[in-house]
Amino acid sequence: MYFPGFLLIEGKLIVPGGSAMLSQDFIFGVATSSFQIEGAADRRLPSIWDTFCEKHGKIRDASDGSIACDHYHLWREDVDLIASLGFDAYRFSISWPRVMTEDGSLNPEGIRFYVDLLDRLNEKGVKPFVTLYHWDLPQHLEDAGGWLSRETAYRFRDYVDLVTRAFGDRVHSYATLNEPLCSAFFGYETGTHAPGFKDRALAKQAAHHLLLAHGLAMGVLEQNSPGSINGIVLNFSPCHPATESEADRVAAQTADDEFNQWYVKPLFDGCYPDSIDSLPEREVPKVEDGDMEIISHPLDFLGVNYYTRSVFRAGPGQAFVPVKPVNVPITEMGWEVYPGGLPEILTALNEKYSLPPVYITENGAALPDTLKDCEVDDPERGYYFQDHLEAVNQSIEKGVDIRGYFAWSLMDNFEWAEGYRKRFGLVHVDFETQRRTIKASGKAFGEFLARRRAEAA
Ligand code: FCB
Repeated sequence: MYFPGFLLIEGKLIVPGGSAMLSQDFIFGVATSSFQIEGAADRRLPSIWDTFCEKHGKIRDASDGSIACDHYHLWREDVDLIASLGFDAYRFSISWPRVMTEDGSLNPEGIRFYVDLLDRLNEKGVKPFVTLYHWDLPQHLEDAGGWLSRETAYRFRDYVDLVTRAFGDRVHSYATLNEPLCSAFFGYETGTHAPGFKDRALAKQAAHHLLLAHGLAMGVLEQNSPGSINGIVLNFSPCHPATESEADRVAAQTADDEFNQWYVKPLFDGCYPDSIDSLPEREVPKVEDGDMEIISHPLDFLGVNYYTRSVFRAGPGQAFVPVKPVNVPITEMGWEVYPGGLPEILTALNEKYSLPPVYITENGAALPDTLKDCEVDDPERGYYFQDHLEAVNQSIEKGVDIRGYFAWSLMDNFEWAEGYRKRFGLVHVDFETQRRTIKASGKAFGEFLARRRAEAA
């Protein structure tokens, strides 16, 4: 079943609103990440997520990534799916522990896997958007200090150097990191992601080393891969006050500094937000001379992941307290469906910084899908995409230079601490049989892309 309104109004093809997104230059893609889909954990070094999954109570359904979508073995079928749906691009990540050995040399088997994948994508006319770090740090580097150690940034640089030489000119775009906020905040402050520390001072130090790793890698990419567009992927969520009170307004602004500006300002302005001056001394990260110059290396693009907005109130003894959404549409993640946050955050960034071209590198919804008679009827996901594409279009009309949009995700997969119960895919995965079934939203997306192509021809 198709959604009558999905990107078609009165039989006319619209990317809701505008023509910029109908042009063949605008890139539509799907996204995944290595740990979430690959499986074949026995064919690589252990990562911090393998270790984390073993800890009791950390993953909601007590699952792990050892098999996941078994993409390591089923990748040909998965590439065919992407191509058959008509997507222009595929964003995926390289598993650092798959391509490197402990002694710091390349693992030929891991490299072969990605070279074959890249070749097949290129053969099919699907542009590879490669993320170099989507959270799966090799465990041996964690044992040596992980992101709390400055050395890890240099190990990242070395890995990026070797891997980009091996890939040659096969890659359309490289992103250094995916969502350093999540690596630092969930990994080191709330402890809900690997490696599971709970200390704000550690989170601030890890964040700095992640950003340093990004900057060092940008220098390598400029040398080794001048033909690709190179940048970073950050996640953003506009921070709104729960009430109009001055205290709540300040709380929301503080949260914005903490969650949004902390990661983007260093890239464009070469410094942390002023709120760094009010951090307690032990939470101020150690920054060495020259770090901020490295971090603010020019970017060819900024990747923006967008899912929802956040609401905060002032709290006794706390700078800000998150407020849960009530009486509003939410997804299975408990995240409010709030497309208006996308133009809001993008126009604000565009005013504050001199942005390079922007790609929406992730956007999507986890919904309670059911597979019935070999079909998944998921109208809500179709509407979610429709409303967010409309929001992308509004952002373009407001002057933001957006060049592409990636749906999260190609297929249902391992949703980190939530395990396999949260389904984000355009394609349903039966984790018992590994059978893939294109959901109604996936078919609708495919139909839209086919019509767009036909209209352009
Ligand atoms: C983002 C992650 C991605 C996925 C989505 C739902 O924060 O980058 O791996 O889990 O959330």
